[in-house]
Amino acid sequence: MVTNLDLDQAAAILRTGGIVALPTETVYGLGGDALNSAAVARIYAVKGRPATSPLIVHVADSAMARALTTEWPPEAEALAERYWPGPLTLVLPKSPQIPDIVTAGLPTVAIRVPAHPIALEIIRRAGTPIAAPSANRFTEVSPTTAQHVRDSFGSAVDLILDGGPCEVGIESTVVAVERGAATLLRPGIITQAEVEAVIGHSAAVAGSVEGAHPSPGMHARHYSPRTPVIICNADELPTGRGAYLYHHRPAQTALPIGLPGEARGYAQALYSALREADQANLDWIAIEPLPGAPEWAGLRDRVSRAAQR
Ligand code: TXA
Ligand code: MG
Repeated sequence: MVTNLDLDQAAAILRTGGIVALPTETVYGLGGDALNSAAVARIYAVKGRPATSPLIVHVADSAMARALTTEWPPEAEALAERYWPGPLTLVLPKSPQIPDIVTAGLPTVAIRVPAHPIALEIIRRAGTPIAAPSANRFTEVSPTTAQHVRDSFGSAVDLILDGGPCEVGIESTVVAVERGAATLLRPGIITQAEVEAVIGHSAAVAGSVEGAHPSPGMHARHYSPRTPVIICNADELPTGRGAYLYHHRPAQTALPIGLPGEARGYAQALYSALREADQANLDWIAIEPLPGAPEWAGLRDRVSRAAQR
């Protein structure tokens, strides 16, 4: 339970350059004052994140987002109106107010309004935009519970707020917008078709899991457990002891983990299942191939990254 006092404490820590792990609806974030370069530097250091990987800035509403950008095309307005607060990040030309360290030197900034009452309240009380990557060490699976954050960081952060398990469970959809154009940089629970329906024209999809990714920091091995991960059917399992993450056809293995058969439920459960499987110290983690339907695109991306060595 997060109390009023915890929220005040979190806001005070953030205002004085500290870092706080906080719940959002997607995954837990490791937050610091986005306008304080030293606080942001500490986020990179604690995460072990390369300085070439820009952060997402979390704000309380679209007015606050607009103030951090120099352009606000109709596409941004329409997407913000439809999906904020929610699991959508917009990439726009940045205002000079945003320190370069936040954007890894890029002229653009990634911004979103998280749909979590604790995150929103902390941003309001701190009175400043909060830069927050997912609260995991570099290359670890993103955290969807406060316990996941404690497992990764223990006392390395000033405060960890427990807002319960994340509702969405995978990271936000990231879309770069310009007047007349939009590019999907990272797939998520909000699909390409949904973005296109809102902006009224087509959106490009940048890169692929196989190729170089234009969303800097989306290294292939971004979401990997330590245990080797493969994607295969129940009748193709390797020898040895392993975990099998299935959503359709179960298999006899040392650790079978059943996941929901629809995309939203699967997303909620995936990262916990990967962490559980990894902690079991088995020879492998096998994942049943995912459906090809559009609403599974974000999940196919995360699962193939987890399987990348
Ligand atoms: O759901 C989420 O987005 C979570 C929660 C905490 O909000 N955050 C998250 O942050 O996933 P992180 O740091 O793990 O991922 C940030 C993503 C990366 O893919 C990064 O490349 C992209 O956002 N990004 C950030 N700034 C960018 C920019 N200026 N241009 C292009 N991509 C950018
Ligand atoms: Mg991350």
